[in-house]
Amino acid sequence: MSITIHTYDAVIVGAGLAGNAAARELQKAGKKVAVITKLHPLRSHSGAAQGGVNAAFSDEDSVELHEFDTVKGADYLADQDAVEFMCKNAPETIRWAERMGAVFSRQENGMIAQRPFGGQSSPRACYAKDRTGLTLLQTMYEQAYREGVEFWDEYYAADILYEDGKAYGVVAFNIRNMEKVIFNAKSVMFATGGYARSFKINSNAHANTGDGLSIVARHGLPLEDMEFVQFHPSGLSGNGVLISEAARGEGGRLFNSEGERFMEKYAPNAMELASRDVVARAIIQEIREGRGVGPRKDAVYIDLTHLGADLIMERLPELRDLAITFLGLDMIKEPILISATAHYSMGGIPCDIDGHVRKNNTEFVEGFYAAGECSCVSVHGANRLGANSVLEAMLFGRFVGKSMVKDLDGIELKVATEADAARMNAEIEWVLNNNGTETVPGLREELQQSMTDNAGVFRTEETLTEQVKILKELRKRYKNIRIDDKSKIYNTELQEAIEFGHMLDYSLFIVESALARKESRGAHYREDFTTRDDENFLKHTMAYMDEEGNITLDYMDVVLGKHELKARSY
Ligand code: FUM
Repeated sequence: MSITIHTYDAVIVGAGLAGNAAARELQKAGKKVAVITKLHPLRSHSGAAQGGVNAAFSDEDSVELHEFDTVKGADYLADQDAVEFMCKNAPETIRWAERMGAVFSRQENGMIAQRPFGGQSSPRACYAKDRTGLTLLQTMYEQAYREGVEFWDEYYAADILYEDGKAYGVVAFNIRNMEKVIFNAKSVMFATGGYARSFKINSNAHANTGDGLSIVARHGLPLEDMEFVQFHPSGLSGNGVLISEAARGEGGRLFNSEGERFMEKYAPNAMELASRDVVARAIIQEIREGRGVGPRKDAVYIDLTHLGADLIMERLPELRDLAITFLGLDMIKEPILISATAHYSMGGIPCDIDGHVRKNNTEFVEGFYAAGECSCVSVHGANRLGANSVLEAMLFGRFVGKSMVKDLDGIELKVATEADAARMNAEIEWVLNNNGTETVPGLREELQQSMTDNAGVFRTEETLTEQVKILKELRKRYKNIRIDDKSKIYNTELQEAIEFGHMLDYSLFIVESALARKESRGAHYREDFTTRDDENFLKHTMAYMDEEGNITLDYMDVVLGKHELKARSY
């Protein structure tokens, strides 16, 4: 069957905040833009961001404090030029979103309401109740749509067209009927989101299978700082569904089985509002030492009862619903059970402030851009502060869109041919016709459980080495899979098999990068190297995969700046 080739100025993969914000900029500038998403845009994971989006607005706050908190939160691994850019442009970005129709919660005096989040010197998270991401996503999508952006919903982008340091499109299939399509374009942007689905307990949507990262890596391009996976302190016990940091921002307190408010031991000043890595480790430590609660003793309590029904119903209604739905617990009346949940990827596709994707430490790929969670600019370094990701996605999405507009005239279209779909065709044929004995759900379960056990909140040489072995074994077994659905209509079994291949690839990047980083920094905690080692590891990991799936590691300097290295305490 022949493949339709569509030609655009720009093709964007992912319809979350970053993808929509960039698409709108391009379309407004008169460019022809396609956005490809394997979901409906409003199901993108940006919509699950609950608690807020940071901007230094208030008299007590400043851009400099926002920068400082971000750099400190990042355990000094963030690039300070990128952090300055983000924090400086944050207030205007909120106003921009508001002018487009995003409705934020307000204070009595009419100003946008802001709540405290972890690691902040001042309440800085602007919010729309506890549905901030959804509110912003609706606005961005609506405005991109209004400008005339063409959305290709339920198309699975399976490969990038890439040759000799130049990107020139994307190859995809229609999930509804397996029709194959090439999107040929002068520029390509990946806004494909995060990858926490490779952990058993996570807060991510089912779609967060890190496709964009593995597609990039399979072309020999680097992934940066993949060892830094954020565990959010409060996921609902048992399933990891997010209970926003807003719950602690509004005054929620953590207790162990002995009724101790245990954060006193770990972060005596900031308490529950220390940075996420600190609070997540404290929770797991309490559980490991036998002070967990719940039927499996694998949770701690978050108590919000003292806040009262009015405040909870006004500011945290969604959280209350979630706890009632999944645990049968009403946070107005009783404490609820939470534990750490894999939440966010600090690492990703390396790029500069304008979104240009790196080919290596010094060169860039022509016509290729990234923004949002799949990218590594790096504004989050080793640990992201809450409410900086919604900001990053919207802000960099918008500015990367502008930089794409600027670059477009200088880029020549490399014309695609049907042969460009060869890799995707081969992958689909292989999955459909492989007649092995393994099932994807079975292998996925083993991947998620072992990643949690061996590469989770606490890591050692031994657990990481074991995990490399497990991943290599899983990769071999993946070659022996079989799917039962051979049809063309909504073949989600086929799609999940391809996604699982991606999960295996980027998981190896996480583990190999973590094994080589013999220090503890931010979210990467090595029980065998418990301190930060600036002398040897104040550097970004740049990891590459060869055709056999072996990883090699290189490193890249961190961009330092006015915020000097200090020991981090909360
Ligand atoms: O806790 C939250 O509401 C999550 C926000 C974030 O990850 O930035």
